[in-house]
Amino acid sequence: MARTTEEYQEIIRDLVDTLVDFATRHDLTTDEYIQALGFLTEVGRADEMILLGDVMYLSIAIDELTHRGRTRGTATNVEGPFYLPDNPLLEPPYRLCSFDEPGRPLVVSGRVTDAESGEPIAGAVLDLWQASADGFYEQQKPERGPNYLRGKVPVDPDGRFMFRTIVPASYEIPKEGPVGRLLEYLGRHAFRANHVHIKVFAEGYESLTTQIFFADNEWLRSDVVGAVKDDLVVELAEETDEVRAKEFEVRSPFFTAPCDISLRKGSLA
Ligand code: BEZ
Ligand code: FE
Repeated sequence: MARTTEEYQEIIRDLVDTLVDFATRHDLTTDEYIQALGFLTEVGRADEMILLGDVMYLSIAIDELTHRGRTRGTATNVEGPFYLPDNPLLEPPYRLCSFDEPGRPLVVSGRVTDAESGEPIAGAVLDLWQASADGFYEQQKPERGPNYLRGKVPVDPDGRFMFRTIVPASYEIPKEGPVGRLLEYLGRHAFRANHVHIKVFAEGYESLTTQIFFADNEWLRSDVVGAVKDDLVVELAEETDEVRAKEFEVRSPFFTAPCDISLRKGSLA
């Protein structure tokens, strides 16, 4: 439910009190205050306010708060800055990239089910986007587009889906600007653990925005935006059988990853 103006006024008053308390506890000086304001101004000018919230782990914390109390259904995750709302509905065999895309071929498969009954959700559609094997999204390499490593995949009548792609790289978030400088100052790296972004839509269900991560990735425990959740980490299994590769219409050797998803009843919004 939307908050009232009075409630927002109270939140802002609390924020001010919190900031004054913070300044007092750290005995901040005017010079330090002016320096902090200068940094925030620079972040704004560089259009990095969202990125700042991401690396301060605020985005994932607020995503958690937004979905607090959910005891069922696949865990949510942040959307990040690379979602494009016009991802095309793909045709079988569902591929996010060409057969020859550089990288380790990957087949992701699973089932979309109702979080309470476990019944398949026949009308669900997955909306997918990811980075390449050299760590770029389409927006960063428009010459590789259109529709590079992104697209929508419908499930079959039994709620099952399968799509072909490549294992995404762990990539560094933009680090040339003020947020990158802050990370360096804090002795932090800029890597995101490799992941595939997934939204799932189905009539009569809450839409889900999440990401899947891959076991054994070196950045799982120190993801720069702190967004890795254990329940969203899937195993990669290597397959070297040429016949299986032919069956799956991918290069050999290839990897498979299981990805079952459950949705909560509700409205699409
Ligand atoms: C991403 O997942 O693509 C992302 C999320 C937060 C900041 C930067 C990138
Ligand atoms: Fe991402």
